[in-house]
Amino acid sequence: MLAGKYFVIGVTGGIAAYRALDLVSGLVKAGAEVHVIMTAGAQQFVKPLAFEAISGHRVHFDTFETPPGWRYPHLELARRADMALIVPATANILAKLACGLADDLLTTAVLAMVCPVLICPAMNVYMYRNRAVQDNLSRLRRIGFKVVEPAVGRQACGDEGPGRLADVAVILEQIRMMFEPKKDLLPSTVLVTAGGTREPIDPVRYISNRSSGKMGYALAETAANRGAEVYLVSAPTRLAVPAGVHIINVETARQMYRAVMELYPRVDVVIKAAAVADYRPRVAAEQKIKKNDDDLVLELEKNPDILMELGKQKKHQLLVGFAAETEDLIKHAQAKINKKNLDMLVANDVTRPGAGFGSDTNVVNILYPDGTVEPLPLMDKLTLSEVIWDKVQQLKAGKKIDAAD
Ligand code: CTP
Repeated sequence: MLAGKYFVIGVTGGIAAYRALDLVSGLVKAGAEVHVIMTAGAQQFVKPLAFEAISGHRVHFDTFETPPGWRYPHLELARRADMALIVPATANILAKLACGLADDLLTTAVLAMVCPVLICPAMNVYMYRNRAVQDNLSRLRRIGFKVVEPAVGRQACGDEGPGRLADVAVILEQIRMMFEPKKDLLPSTVLVTAGGTREPIDPVRYISNRSSGKMGYALAETAANRGAEVYLVSAPTRLAVPAGVHIINVETARQMYRAVMELYPRVDVVIKAAAVADYRPRVAAEQKIKKNDDDLVLELEKNPDILMELGKQKKHQLLVGFAAETEDLIKHAQAKINKKNLDMLVANDVTRPGAGFGSDTNVVNILYPDGTVEPLPLMDKLTLSEVIWDKVQQLKAGKKIDAAD
């Protein structure tokens, strides 16, 4: 699949620079043509000769040094590349790319690229968690870069946490997935719910929650890419509907209940990522409520628990729930699996940094009815959605998931 593909690998100045050698080697072994751009910082860690020996090509450093037959190195590299990677990506390169700077060969070439660019950050955990770095990563994702989350563990400096360069095997798998998305969900029909429901108080006000819908939309997008027929029942969000997905827009929990129940008999899998309001105002005022008294009491009544009802009526379907918790994550999540008759539950502590509402990333535990708990590292919501569909596929095949997978 990678044979004959043209890769541009940007190596920036971090201790993980030497691990880019393994990546180049893996790509070359797979038959790819690999051209390396090293920044000045990268050359402090690894000699260019090492990359030249493994890639079989001169390393590029300089915007103004033109190889024979090339007019503009940055444009030649950008035009030829089928894919570019930044491995490792330092905090500095993330900031430069997020701002669109072009002050060396790597940044200038990346600006000119129309191919996918995969960024593999690696840095100290505190630098990685820094708000500015996380904001830059969010912006990079939003403008179309793909990010391979760093691994968690002991770092060269002795600190522990996320920030180690992802395993080269994981990066290679991501590359393969981008060239040839799996079609392993064909011919399933799946239903995903997303967003936070709105429960009207009057014509201008409602009760809702902080859900952005990003997780549900990511699940719908990956399922469609992997060949499933996808129904997305969505409460209001600001997100674009993924290509090839049937969208059913709803606003309230009761509308979501009706839409989901109607689709239920014809779907194989339901993933309920929506944040459904548990209560609604007993009466939605017909006219805007005026501010007269000092206090206003709203009487609330319970909404249907959609997932619980799906659990009761379950026949051939596989049911996956989400649980957003702020305390006693595993205990509360385990209780939901049993109460709602679920096959799998994705639980996240929404108070953790990098997890939950509005974030592009998530940190979750996957729970099963037999009590198994599988913690997953911090990852972006698209990658997490791939992992969730992998787990669903394993469950459908009757295989129990190994926590070490
Ligand atoms: N859910 C649902 N209908 C509801 C409430 C929740 O279908 N009325 C689904 C959610 O989509 C999610 C799962 O149930 O997949 C768990 O939702 P969560 O809000 O975490 O839990 P609740 O069951 O509402 O319990 P609590 O609010 O007490 O934690």
